[in-house]
Amino acid sequence: MGIDITYTDSGQGPAILLLHGYPFDRSMWSEQIDFLSGQGFRAIAPDLMGRKGTIITMDQMARDSAALLDELKIEDAVVCGLSMGGYVAFEFAHLFPARVRGLILAGTRAPADSEQEKQTRFQQCEKMLAEGMEPIADATLPKLLAPRTLAEKPDVVARVREMIVKADPSGATAAQHGMAARRDYSGDLAKINVQTLVIVGREDPIRPVADSEFMRDQIHNSRLEIIEDAAHMTNMEQPEAFNQALPDFLRLIH
Ligand code: MLT
Repeated sequence: MGIDITYTDSGQGPAILLLHGYPFDRSMWSEQIDFLSGQGFRAIAPDLMGRKGTIITMDQMARDSAALLDELKIEDAVVCGLSMGGYVAFEFAHLFPARVRGLILAGTRAPADSEQEKQTRFQQCEKMLAEGMEPIADATLPKLLAPRTLAEKPDVVARVREMIVKADPSGATAAQHGMAARRDYSGDLAKINVQTLVIVGREDPIRPVADSEFMRDQIHNSRLEIIEDAAHMTNMEQPEAFNQALPDFLRLIH
């Protein structure tokens, strides 16, 4: 049985699969979609949290992304994931190594959750099912965005807030359960044999720089880009800096 996936497909050329974070949607990539399609690439960005059910696993999100590429007749892609999208990218690389031309891992990490982190997710699920997404937005914005973004970029703050508030609490809950159940990807890192760009915000309290240094150290052909004046949402907070890192990296591959 097929599933419906909402997605953006923009530009022509080698494909870049853009996998969003939690609890966001593909609109978080709009600056990268415009940039990449203007640079001769084809940007594909699915919404990942649309499945019905009590859990959406990282494996399902990766398989759904591969099914989308099948539908679009795309053999392989550079796979770029931010945070939860990074976990999906790890699963995608594990399941479909031949379809991965390169990896971009932004604001993510390899290890699985601790018991405490799982409990925190389940508490958040109860809260969002009972109260909706507004309180989640209020509580998480100061961690998602750097102080400078919060003070100087009201449009970015508003966009991030709107994505969270618009998210369906049952889809977000299912994704939280999927993240809690995800495996430890640390053992996968040394097996990655494609060029990899690791990106992190200097001020990310959610997935700090040390998580990215670990990935850079374990993945053979990798480099690390630290984005200043950004926390978790590097690609939205500092789109110029994020985009600037892409062409050199993509030229290594294509
Ligand atoms: C995300 O931005 O996707 C989340 O912070 C990931 C997570 O909760 O582990």
